[in-house]
Amino acid sequence: MWTRVAALSAFAAGSIVPVRVAGRGLLLVRDGGRVYAVERACPHEGADLAQGRCAGGRLLCPHHRASFALADGAVSPGWSFRRLRTYPVRVVGDAVWVAVGQNAPR
Ligand code: FES
Repeated sequence: MWTRVAALSAFAAGSIVPVRVAGRGLLLVRDGGRVYAVERACPHEGADLAQGRCAGGRLLCPHHRASFALADGAVSPGWSFRRLRTYPVRVVGDAVWVAVGQNAPR
């Protein structure tokens, strides 16, 4: 299900914005010209990735400093836990939409 979550003009490049969609804590991350949606809790020990940093298409965990590819959630080499969940994003005009749920497109 697609949900309108934010106005694109409300956040600058490099910003990390927490949102709640369908009961899940997500982050919107604006990196370069793209917006990504990922889960908020680190899959390692649950650190709040809203406190992390993003650069070069990756999101850095503030706790043990693993990083995740924003495009597919892949964790940096040397870590053995699962990838970060990612969610489809659409930008229509100034509106950012995120798809969450069983029938969400991949
Ligand atoms: S809690 Fe994120 S890398 Fe350990």
